Amino acid sequence: GRRVTVRDLARAKQSGEKWPMLTAYDSMIASVFDEAGIPVLLVGDSAGNNHLGYENTIPVTVDQLVMLTGAVVRGTQRALVVADLPFGSYQVSPAQALETGARFLKEAGAGAVKLEGGVAMVPQVEALVTAGIPVMAHIGLTPQSVNVLGGYRVQGRGDEAAAQLLADAKAMQAAGAFAVVLELVPAELAAKVTAQLDIPTVGIGAGSGCDAQVLVWTDMAGLTPGRLPKFVKQYLDLRGALGDAAREFAADVVGGSYPGPEHAFH
Ligand code: KIV
Ligand code: NA
Repeated sequence: GRRVTVRDLARAKQSGEKWPMLTAYDSMIASVFDEAGIPVLLVGDSAGNNHLGYENTIPVTVDQLVMLTGAVVRGTQRALVVADLPFGSYQVSPAQALETGARFLKEAGAGAVKLEGGVAMVPQVEALVTAGIPVMAHIGLTPQSVNVLGGYRVQGRGDEAAAQLLADAKAMQAAGAFAVVLELVPAELAAKVTAQLDIPTVGIGAGSGCDAQVLVWTDMAGLTPGRLPKFVKQYLDLRGALGDAAREFAADVVGGSYPGPEHAFH
């Protein structure tokens, strides 16, 4: 089989089919999700927090994300792999966005890129799409702007902010984006945006009215330490299970029960 394409996602919107998206930062985890039938995998700059040990997404570099994206592409056969454009790698100009975006397709084999921002990023989205690089937009809470927003809180509250969010979504669609992520947006507003767009909306903390839903894989699998945001559903306790496995291995080694005769060569 072939990979999922942006056309498949456009068709899903028309037929009202919802679809899931997960982040992935490495080859093996990506292969698990690919085999599970997740149609779109995002090599998010949330790799900064969840893979590289940074406090937020700001420090993530293009070189880092190109490397992780290549790994995810090599681990998958069917998923559309979308790569985040890191902070500072596209805002300068449409030319900068095109140079960065092209690296993700040429060097990593990504099928599309994602960037944060609405109306202000129209020239970037137009340049990318014109050059043949599919773009997923990301509006609402945009983590690369955490220092301007002053934290990770719900966006689009109030008439003015809601109107701006709708305008941002429509501008991204008009510029040629194939989908738009709505992060931390009131459910009613996300549903309204979804109804007014021809392209799919991908919600995260945006209620059930979106066309698709995305979660950070380490959140949904219970690997992320500490308290999770309210919108996350945790499907597994991977941190607990892996910790138990490590403690059991340690106890076996210390107690001499591993390796057993069946693990040895004679
Ligand atoms: O980097 C990321 O994980 C994302 C998703 C939360 C949409 O941008
Ligand atoms: Na991101």
